[in-house]
Amino acid sequence: MSVYKRTHMCGQLRKENIGEQVVLNGWVQKRRNLGGLIFCDIRDKTGITQVVFNDKIEKAVFDKADALRSEYVVGIKGTVAERESKNSSMDTGDIEIIAEDITVYSKADTPPIYIKDDDNADDNLRLKYRYLDLRKKKMQDNLTFRHRLAKLTRDYFSEEGFTEVETPMLVKSTPEGARDYLVPSRVNPGKFYALPQSPQMFKQLLMAGGTDRYVQIVKCFRDEDLRADRQPEFTQIDLEMSFVDRDDVMEVQEGYLKRVFKEMKGIDIQTPFPRISYEEAMERFGSDKPDIRFGFELKNITELVRGCGFKVFTDAIEAGGSVRGIAVTGGAERYTRKKIDKLTEAVKSYGARGMVWMKVAGGEVSSSVNKFFSQEELKAMAEACGASDGDLVLIISDRDKVVFDSLGFLRRHTAEEMGLLRDDDYRLLWVVDFPLFEYNEEEGRYQAMHHPFTAPKAEDAHLLKTEPAAARADAYDIVLNGVELGGGSIRIHDKDMQEDMFRALNMSQEEIDEKFGFLVEAFRYGTPPHGGLAYGMDRLVMLLTGEKSIREVIAFPKNQAAQCMVSEAPGPVSEKQLEELGIKIK
Ligand code: AMO
Repeated sequence: MSVYKRTHMCGQLRKENIGEQVVLNGWVQKRRNLGGLIFCDIRDKTGITQVVFNDKIEKAVFDKADALRSEYVVGIKGTVAERESKNSSMDTGDIEIIAEDITVYSKADTPPIYIKDDDNADDNLRLKYRYLDLRKKKMQDNLTFRHRLAKLTRDYFSEEGFTEVETPMLVKSTPEGARDYLVPSRVNPGKFYALPQSPQMFKQLLMAGGTDRYVQIVKCFRDEDLRADRQPEFTQIDLEMSFVDRDDVMEVQEGYLKRVFKEMKGIDIQTPFPRISYEEAMERFGSDKPDIRFGFELKNITELVRGCGFKVFTDAIEAGGSVRGIAVTGGAERYTRKKIDKLTEAVKSYGARGMVWMKVAGGEVSSSVNKFFSQEELKAMAEACGASDGDLVLIISDRDKVVFDSLGFLRRHTAEEMGLLRDDDYRLLWVVDFPLFEYNEEEGRYQAMHHPFTAPKAEDAHLLKTEPAAARADAYDIVLNGVELGGGSIRIHDKDMQEDMFRALNMSQEEIDEKFGFLVEAFRYGTPPHGGLAYGMDRLVMLLTGEKSIREVIAFPKNQAAQCMVSEAPGPVSEKQLEELGIKIK
């Protein structure tokens, strides 16, 4: 079959082209037969053009057009003409093509999903027929946006002296953080590779190897539960720099993000970004990835209610916990009892056993705890939570972790319900000085909060041997609108300190040698001080395109059960394959 060589894309033609002979290739969006005239919309990734077939001009062509159905793939030859009834909602709405010839490249069955941006199709159907879903303008725009961001990223870091280096995809399993994806080795029976959770150790070895500045747009793999901003395979913009301190790394990132916002969104963002400590982030926002587009800040009212007779508060305080609240500005009227009950229900998943609410209206406070407090006491609490007339106050008393998690959730959730979260309002900030370790309650042990290669802050280094839990890390996260966009740290580059770190994590010498020996050994042969950071590229694209899930910016994402709906991976393998690998399925 000969292909009509196209002269233009379907979103390209304008008034200026009137009178030109053109050829378009694309898909049939829709077709309407109005007797002697057939109107047909032809679509490609750039847009849609209306084509008109007239039975007076060429009957054979008209008949062919009459047989067209949605999603047929066609080539159309014709002349650009001014449209009688213009369509201002279409970029090409001033013109139409008077068709002279048409060729059908491929017919199509009725597609299982509509090819339009707001089709409301079920997510699993969209993922199964991803190639149809990808025909939508929005999806193609997202892919193009992502491509442009990747190009900008390579340009920027290249100009800053970074070299893109590929690191291995078959690596050693050193589970830390998430679970590894394992790959059996045929030539080494009984042994397994892991797919990298990140190139962390290899990028550090590149610094030991003299690469100086490394960047890579790289796939990472983590076998963890999926969420809107989590996929089992995702992409990092991964960076590492030699001879730097924390400020050097952050400065390069601010330059990068400034350029990203300017070139991708036309927005001038102010640098440097605000920096707050982990402790301050928790105290003020109940989250280490605070959304600072709105207020509703947490207030600690523990001291105010310490002596009160309300057992829910006093029990929590006696057990070492705290009482804190937020004021939802203007929320008193909007939050009915039913809506408040929903909030109470929602915080249960954060471990909260209950939630106290108060409404301030006309100078009076009504609340769920009216009978335990006087009006004066209620007013004092509401005021301490920062509430004024018309506000809703939400209070949680429990262990600090439960209080922070619950209020952190309530803060953002109510702001969303109050319509305060604008997608085009971008607020970046750094969260710094994370604790070096966090306690894993399930496993009853301390683990590295970032990863075990993160250096303590210089002034806390001595704590590594004496009181590791009190040490702060030389780590930083970049946060955008409540999403952790990226994280990084200054690394340990000293063999002894690295071993102290592993020991603080309760690892035996044998374990250290087995898992991380190659990195510790590299530190014996001269390693520069170094540090870096990795962005979640999917998240960055999601936020910049205003999407709610990273699935919208990944061509072939996994579903909730970590399956590829298109290819039906993971799937069974043959007995022969298993035999070769020496594996038996139980
Ligand atoms: P970290 O584990 O914080 O750091 O990952 C860096 C960034 O990657 C993104 N991210 C994810 N995105 C989608 N799906 C996931 N499952 C997922 N997990 C993480 C987040 C996160 O901020 N090696 C270190 C970086 C360093 O220290 O330089 C690392 O991987 O946006």
